[in-house]
Amino acid sequence: MLNEQATGKASRASLHGHWSSHMAFILAVTGSAVGLGNIWKFPYIAGQNGGGAFVLVYLICVVLIGMPVMMSEILIGRRGRRNPIATMALLGAEEGSTRHWRLVGLVGVLAGILILSYYSVIAGWTLAYVYKSITGVFAGATAAEVSAQFGGFVGDWRLVAVCHTLFMGLTIFVVARGVERGLEQAVKFMVPALLLLMLTLLGYSMNSGHFGEGLAFMFTPDFDKLTWDSVLAAMGQAFFSLSIGMGAIMAYGAYLPQETSITGATAAVVTADTVIAILAGLVIFPLVFANGLDPAEGPGLVFDTLPLAFGQMTGGAVFATLFFVLLSFAAWTSAIGLMEPAVAWMVEHFGRARAQAAVLVGILIWALGFATVLSFNVLADLTFYKGTIFANIDYLTSNFMLPLGAVFMTVFAAWVMCRNSTAEELGGAGTLYKLWRLLARFVAPLAILFIFLKAVGLLPDFSS
Ligand code: PFF
Repeated sequence: MLNEQATGKASRASLHGHWSSHMAFILAVTGSAVGLGNIWKFPYIAGQNGGGAFVLVYLICVVLIGMPVMMSEILIGRRGRRNPIATMALLGAEEGSTRHWRLVGLVGVLAGILILSYYSVIAGWTLAYVYKSITGVFAGATAAEVSAQFGGFVGDWRLVAVCHTLFMGLTIFVVARGVERGLEQAVKFMVPALLLLMLTLLGYSMNSGHFGEGLAFMFTPDFDKLTWDSVLAAMGQAFFSLSIGMGAIMAYGAYLPQETSITGATAAVVTADTVIAILAGLVIFPLVFANGLDPAEGPGLVFDTLPLAFGQMTGGAVFATLFFVLLSFAAWTSAIGLMEPAVAWMVEHFGRARAQAAVLVGILIWALGFATVLSFNVLADLTFYKGTIFANIDYLTSNFMLPLGAVFMTVFAAWVMCRNSTAEELGGAGTLYKLWRLLARFVAPLAILFIFLKAVGLLPDFSS
């Protein structure tokens, strides 16, 4: 039986309002998950890490680590009903541990700020490509011309800065307006429309003559190409793509009605996110091989391949415009999630008005974004550790901060919170609950730690 106190906690009112419905929550989390991570990042990271084996590890990470982490994050959020920092502090105390758990929320807020600083720049590229598509520059263009377009664009830091500024402005605007009015509306038509367009592109790439090659690249695992660093990259990409490990989903969970099934919502979001990432790969790799491009070329991959396809289609300019508009939308709904933890925290902690908090946090992120704006031109030669400043911010956040946050969140949900609390949030102590608990107590945290320590060389090589 659940004790009264637990029930009382569960029905705590949120300070920021509620989602208008169960579906609205799923839409919002899907909107946060589906973004540049699926269409821009997944193909290029998969390409850099040799394809097949990486994709397999990615899928395993999504199911065995991503799902339990997401469930933990949502349940913590709904139980605390505050911003991630306050929620972790509150539940830490309430569950008989310590308020220091708030540090987990703090790392998440910082990760969101750092990720958005570069995310906004890439989203700015997407906006620029909307404009390029409208003007029809890709019509009949060759691979060399398309790549020159991209090189010329990212080489011009002022232009990139303008696009980054525009995107941050749009993000601040939605976050300032608040949860119900802002987030839900943006997501409702975007995901289905994006899916439809990806399917259209898939039809094209199936006819490219190199579909088999693309398919083989993505699904034939070559484990010789897999290093521990690639495994870490696959896991980091799973966290990034699902928006977990930093408190964004926790912040969304805070607005979730008590009767919504967390397991069901997680399954829906993870499925949508994974389908779109795999579709993106299936569209892009055949085009890469059909045009003699390099799958490992890096962050420009999508911008160098898709315009080629659009350039050869009838009505290509329209499709291209539609595609980059939708991708900008997808980036927008994700950016909102990235900013939400920091903004919700400023509102609660400093008693700021939401709009004011959004502007302040937004300006900070915008300024940090210049490190990425310049990473592709003026400071392109300034490389250290993992590469450019952009590459290092990306590595630090996806492969270090998100996994770290995820370990602490699952450990908190599965070890610190009492059984009653978690069973109540996850709808009873049935088989699914037991499976979650097994994954969240042992499999996910141990796997994350193991992969991380292996990749940074802190564990010995047992095979030799
Ligand atoms: N999941 C988003 C994407 O794949 O583009 C990126 C992201 C959004 C990461 C929100 C983290 C987050 F909190």
